Amino acid sequence: MLDAEVRELMQPFVLSDYQVQEVYSRFCLEVARGLKRSTHPQANVKCFPTYVQDLPTGDEMGKYLALDLGGTNFRVLLVSLKGHHDATVDSQIYAVPKDLMVGSGVQLFDHIAGCLAKFVEKHDMKTAYLPLGFTFSFPCVQLGLKEGILVRWTKGFDCAGVEGEDVGRMLHEAIQRRGDADIAVVAILNDTTGTLMSCAHRNADCRVGVIVGTGCNACYVEDVENVDLLRADFKKSKRSVIVNAEWGAFGEGGQLDFVRTEYDREVDEKSINRAEQLFEKMTAGMYLGNLVRLVLLRALERKLIFKQSSRRPEFAGVLQRNEEVFETRYISEIEDDSFPEFASTRKIVKNLFGLEKASVEDCQTLRYICECVAKRAATLVAIGVSGLVNRTSNRRVIVGMDGSVYRYHPKFDAYMRQTLQKLVKADKEWDIMLSEDGSGRGAALVAAVASKSK
Ligand code: GLC
Repeated sequence: MLDAEVRELMQPFVLSDYQVQEVYSRFCLEVARGLKRSTHPQANVKCFPTYVQDLPTGDEMGKYLALDLGGTNFRVLLVSLKGHHDATVDSQIYAVPKDLMVGSGVQLFDHIAGCLAKFVEKHDMKTAYLPLGFTFSFPCVQLGLKEGILVRWTKGFDCAGVEGEDVGRMLHEAIQRRGDADIAVVAILNDTTGTLMSCAHRNADCRVGVIVGTGCNACYVEDVENVDLLRADFKKSKRSVIVNAEWGAFGEGGQLDFVRTEYDREVDEKSINRAEQLFEKMTAGMYLGNLVRLVLLRALERKLIFKQSSRRPEFAGVLQRNEEVFETRYISEIEDDSFPEFASTRKIVKNLFGLEKASVEDCQTLRYICECVAKRAATLVAIGVSGLVNRTSNRRVIVGMDGSVYRYHPKFDAYMRQTLQKLVKADKEWDIMLSEDGSGRGAALVAAVASKSK
């Protein structure tokens, strides 16, 4: 049985129906404000047009390079589109050392171009002409398909000299500086756009793409007449365009203050991007583990967990010393654990604190804390998804999803569905589909669709 005091501790994370409705209304308003030219500068859900106007048909062909920067890893991929909705992907993961994440932009792009050159060499493609799609998963103002001006860094990146610059050009210049391969940057895209495209490649009804990974964001297909920021010449021949919501920034105007907890405020205050990306800080993998860590500290202080142990101050010390000590993946592992064995939970507790056999009660308390933090995240994500699904003009809407939190958390999908059922309009038919490598396949598809429409 869970202690009533543990329930009380977690109460601030449990969103009431009223709060869910209110966040939903505020979110929809911000989307509308982001799309309108007159309110866009003040809006915090920016809704940037991506210039991707054609969804794949499934018959795309050809070899494309893709780069994926913006999560925990950096990847280079070779994507072969084979028609008949089919594609194969060959990829290589490279680490992004912490000092590169906060070093100079030129260094970062030189590192990327270096990895790219190695990859091309390894695949014996040095002499081939290769079009490249660059999945750059940060907020960008796009001026066209291959020009993206970085608005701000998110997710722990902070490289000097890139904000306000065209990242397509920076990549192009880094490739030119090396001069050892014939690679053309033909498209810059967000990972959410990649997710939408890769799902649309399989299912023509996909209209929304969502990432719940290191960061959290979504994009959707909007009618061109609602997108004030899209250049007029792009409105003539096409009816719709993918809009990158950049919903991670939602709440920066105070819209979420009525649901943010003291733990959310602390996560924000200690982050390198204070007062920014507030919705992301409640929903994304980069922050969820830290939230649990802070709640655990409070639980220890109030003697709500590890009550029997005299080593509680020592455990608190472990949690205080390192913000990243409670990894987000533990949340998934703990919620996946079986009762009453709690094998994974006990292993995590042992690794963290050196505590040999946590009691069933302690494991239950820890599980409940994780559940409340994850469920709130899923509910908030679903509120955003509902807002976007309800905006699309299609009756049937597939939501393409990706990201480590969504993929590996055993109940994230189910939690989301509960909220979607409440908020999506009754005349819509919806479903969620897991994306297959949106950042790679999606990038190739954007590049392919772009060359097709030329
Ligand atoms: C952050 C970025 C956004 C990206 C998301 C998921 O929110 O700003 O562009 O889509 O993370 O990676």
